Amino acid sequence: RTVYVNGEYLPETEATVSIFDRGFLMADGVYEVTSVLGGKLIDFAGHLKRLERSLNELDMQKPADFDNLLDIHRELVRVNGIDEGLIYLQVTRGSDGDRDFAFPSADTKPTVVLFTQNKPGLAHSEASKKGNKIISIEDIRWGRRDIKTVQLLYPSMGKMMAKAAGCDDAWMVEDGKVTEGTSNNAYIVKGGKIITRQLSNDILHGITRAAVLRFAKEAQMVVEERSFTIDEAKEADEAFTTSASAFVMPVVEIDGVQMGDGTPGPIAKRLREIYLDESL
Ligand code: PDD
Repeated sequence: RTVYVNGEYLPETEATVSIFDRGFLMADGVYEVTSVLGGKLIDFAGHLKRLERSLNELDMQKPADFDNLLDIHRELVRVNGIDEGLIYLQVTRGSDGDRDFAFPSADTKPTVVLFTQNKPGLAHSEASKKGNKIISIEDIRWGRRDIKTVQLLYPSMGKMMAKAAGCDDAWMVEDGKVTEGTSNNAYIVKGGKIITRQLSNDILHGITRAAVLRFAKEAQMVVEERSFTIDEAKEADEAFTTSASAFVMPVVEIDGVQMGDGTPGPIAKRLREIYLDESL
């Protein structure tokens, strides 16, 4: 695989980053994941805009290659021959060669890393046909979940808790209300209405979420942006999640409670089809 590090395209075995990089020492960095379908980048403009916002919110300077990021994404797709897969982009605050809680001087160069993940069959995965079984866990993350930081330890632990329970993923719950999935936005459907938490600092402003809600409204579906409790979710007709890495993923079980007949619901399936059609 060819990867990109600070202005250079290199074989992955030759790419290096300093051990003092604040991304490594302090999780001081932000990232984006963009999907590739049919060799095409999906929703790239949205990801770039959110990256810019994340950088701003953390007082990080834009990397010098910020304006070339589209070209860099395209080049990596090309040289690695990606038809279906993902591109991971990370920008960290870099380092001035030591460990310090205070940020290094503002002219410290951020570290920019990009790599591809080849995922043939992503659009028609077995998982999307079966749907996900999820557990609920308490949301103990920090208060700025709208910033897409690389601080992903708790979501990783959530995935492991789900696996240990024989499930696929976890939804996080705060004050009884679902915030989001470990790496996706959460939805329920009740009486034909699509319900998903309103945007705030409590959740990531998903790029796939924005697209799916737009498609849903265009298809005359009713969308309600509001919090819902985990108990309400268990009584819903269907549930699903959205993310750049799994598009629209049906949820068929929550904390052992089967959703509908235990197979992906009609609205989740339809939204997944619309999303893939519109993207290809
Ligand atoms: N995760 N919420 C969280 C906590 C996420 O990590 C993600 C994305 C989303 C969905 O956002 P989007 O639709 O823009 O992908 C919501 C990525 C895919 C990841 O960490 O791999």
